[in-house]
Amino acid sequence: MTLKEKIERLKRERRAVILAHYYTEGEVQDVADFVGDSLALSQRAATTDAEVILFAGVHFMGETAKILSPQKTVLLPDLAAGCSLADSCRAEDLAAFIDRHPGHTVISYVNTTAEVKALTDIVCTSSNAVQIVESLPPDEPIIFGPDRNLGNYIKNITGRENMLIWDGACHVHEEFSLDKILALKAEHPQAKILAHPECKRPIILVSDYVGSTAGLLKFAVEDTSTETYIVVTEPGVLHQMRRAAPSKRFIPAPPTDSTCGCNNCNYMKLVTLQKMADALERLEPQIVIPEEVRVRAERSIRRMLEISQRLGLV
Ligand code: 13P
Ligand code: SF4
Repeated sequence: MTLKEKIERLKRERRAVILAHYYTEGEVQDVADFVGDSLALSQRAATTDAEVILFAGVHFMGETAKILSPQKTVLLPDLAAGCSLADSCRAEDLAAFIDRHPGHTVISYVNTTAEVKALTDIVCTSSNAVQIVESLPPDEPIIFGPDRNLGNYIKNITGRENMLIWDGACHVHEEFSLDKILALKAEHPQAKILAHPECKRPIILVSDYVGSTAGLLKFAVEDTSTETYIVVTEPGVLHQMRRAAPSKRFIPAPPTDSTCGCNNCNYMKLVTLQKMADALERLEPQIVIPEEVRVRAERSIRRMLEISQRLGLV
């Protein structure tokens, strides 16, 4: 029996659903029931009727699923699959920052720990951050964290003056090389540059389209102006781009220091078929969250889902 067949069998026996992020390995995405960006995955986690959720992604994603579905067993194939962006904002530091800046509405990116979400008024993802900020009155003082690149991108689009931005970042998106992207563009002048808003501003400025992973995928599939795309985000998303538009050419953008030319998220790549099969067999490792943290974190995620539903974003 192949690993894939074993996962299928265990999935049926455990009455499990497999949710995977676009940044995981292609073979991991291929065994998932649903592959999506952070917003779509949190929506799925909130509505699935499966008894077990196997989350093929990183720790904050498993936590988000557990916060929304506390009665379900949420499995994360490798508990070491963390996130440099979530690590850049510790709950105790955010609590002190909020104390120093009272009267602000706290908006946190979903790439945060449950403890940070518990201190947050509204969670957002890269696909709804603009709309979440714009759902507040124009002069509302806002603390936005932890991604400084996404924060500055949102601030520029919305023109919000009253926005304090946390100084955190994702190591994958910080490492892309503008010079190498421009060299690729010179080699393929017809190519369009697609970038995730976690990228630094100089890269955003040379991009033809900026969006969440789901947004980049949709644009790449629907766009008819060219056949070649330079994709400036974690290269796992190219798997779905190539499947959905096999005649097009997708080139992963390189980081500054790289010989392989790609820029993998080492945390996402910890998820393997073997670990997924083991997790389904043992029903371990599970995500566990103290109930009082979970209840407060759920409020800020539900507010995001309510606003997103009202605006037709999910
Ligand atoms: P999205 O899924 O919102 O595109 O975010 C990407 C990301 O960094 C997930 O870790
Ligand atoms: Fe975190 Fe960046 Fe990896 Fe996404 S790509 S999980 S933000 S480290």
